[in-house]
Amino acid sequence: MDAGPSFQWDEIAKHTSAKDCWVVIDAVVYDMTSFLPDHPGGKRLPLKYAGRDATAAWDSIHGHKKAQILEQWSYLRVGVVAADAGPPPAPEKSRRSKL
Ligand code: HEM
Repeated sequence: MDAGPSFQWDEIAKHTSAKDCWVVIDAVVYDMTSFLPDHPGGKRLPLKYAGRDATAAWDSIHGHKKAQILEQWSYLRVGVVAADAGPPPAPEKSRRSKL
C-alpha cells in the first residue's frame, strides 16, 4: 500500500484542534477530524494527544482490537512520520503540559 506523504513532527504538531486533529499511531499519521464526533471514546482524550504520538495511550485503550480498528479506520490515514523525523518530542514540550 502507498504510505502517502511523510511528515516531520513540527508539521504534525500544527494539527491540534477539534477542526483539525491529527494523531500518530505506530508512526502512521491519522486525521481524526471527521471521526471525532463519532469516536466511541469521545473528543477529549484524542484532543489531548492531537498533534503528537498517541501510540502508548492508544495501545493501552484499543490494544485488544488494534489490527481490526486500524484496518476499519484506515481511510483516516494521511501519511507517515518521516524516516528522519527522529523520536517524538518529549511530552513536556507538547500540549500535555498546558492541559
Ligand atoms: C485513528 C484514531 C482512532 C480510532 C480509529 C479510534 C477508534 C476507537 C474505537 C473503534 C473505539 C471503540 C472500542 C471498542 O469498541 O472496544 C474507541 C474507543 C476509545 N478510544 Fe479511540 N480511536 C482513535 C484514537 C484515539 C485516541 C488518540 C485516543 C486517546 C488516547 C482514544 C481514546 C479512546 C477511548 C478512551 C475509548 C473508550 C474506551 C472504552 O470505553 O472502553 N482513541 N476508539
